Amino acid sequence: MSLKEQIDLTKLPKHVAIIMDGNGRWAKKRMLPRIIGHTNGVKTVKKIVEFARKLNIQVLTLYAFSTENWQRPKDEVSGIMTLLKTYLKSELENMIENQISFRVSGDISRMSEDIQAELKEAVDKTKDMKSLVLNLALNYGSRQEILMACRDLMSKGITNPTEQDFSDCLYTKGLPDPDLLIRTSGEMRISNFLLWQIAYTEIYVTDVLWPDFNEDEFCKAIIDYQKRDRRFGKV
Ligand code: IPE
Ligand code: IPE
Ligand code: MG
Repeated sequence: MSLKEQIDLTKLPKHVAIIMDGNGRWAKKRMLPRIIGHTNGVKTVKKIVEFARKLNIQVLTLYAFSTENWQRPKDEVSGIMTLLKTYLKSELENMIENQISFRVSGDISRMSEDIQAELKEAVDKTKDMKSLVLNLALNYGSRQEILMACRDLMSKGITNPTEQDFSDCLYTKGLPDPDLLIRTSGEMRISNFLLWQIAYTEIYVTDVLWPDFNEDEFCKAIIDYQKRDRRFGKV
C-alpha cells in the first residue's frame, strides 16, 4: 500500500501549518549558496500546495518569513523577496485555475511596495475561491500579532475580551486552529509561530530538510497525526 493510501480520508487535519526550515543547510551540504536552498524550497512549496489541495485539506499555512528573519544578511533577505515576487507572479493564474484562496498572515507594510501590490492582488482575486486556503506567513511573528490584537481590542473599547474576541483580532481570523504543525529540519522549537493558535495542535518534527520534503513525507506526517489521541484536556 502506498503512503497516500494509508491516509484515512475521513480523519484529515483541516488545517496544516508548516515551519519550512532547512533551506540553508540543504544548500550548505552541497557547498552551494544559501539562496539556492531557498530556490529549491520554493519548488517544494509548489508541490506541497498542489498535494494539499488534491487531498482536500482546507487550510495550509506556510511560514515563509519571520519578523526575525530581517536580521539575516541583506543579500539573503533581498534574494528571498525576489523569490517571493516571482512565486506570486507565476502562481496567481494557477491559484485561480485551482480555486485556491490566497491569504497572508503578517505585517506586510514592511515589504516593498511592489510586493505589497502583488500580495493584495492575489488576495483580492482569489478571495471567493472554494478549495484550499493557502495562508502564507510573511513578516510574521506571533508576539507582534498578539500585541497587534491587544491594541486592536483596546481601540475597539473591548476591555474584557473573550477568546473569540481575541482570535478575531489575529491574522488567522475565521480560520480553524491548526490540527497539525509540521517542522522540517529537526529543530524542536516554535520560533515565534502561531503561539495562540497552536494551543492544542499536534506537533510533528522531521529531520528532512525543506527542499527534500515531498508528498511521501507529507503523508508520513498525516499518518502519524492520525494515530494521535487528541484529548483536549479531557479523559
Ligand atoms: C527556512 O530555511 C527558510 C527561511 C527561514 C526563510 P533556513 O534559511 O532557515 O534554513 P537553515 O535553518 O539555515 O538550514
Ligand atoms: C523559522 O525558521 C522561520 C521560517 C521558517 C520562516 P528560522 O530558521 O528562522 O528559525 P530559527 O532561527 O531556527 O529559530
Ligand atoms: Mg532555519
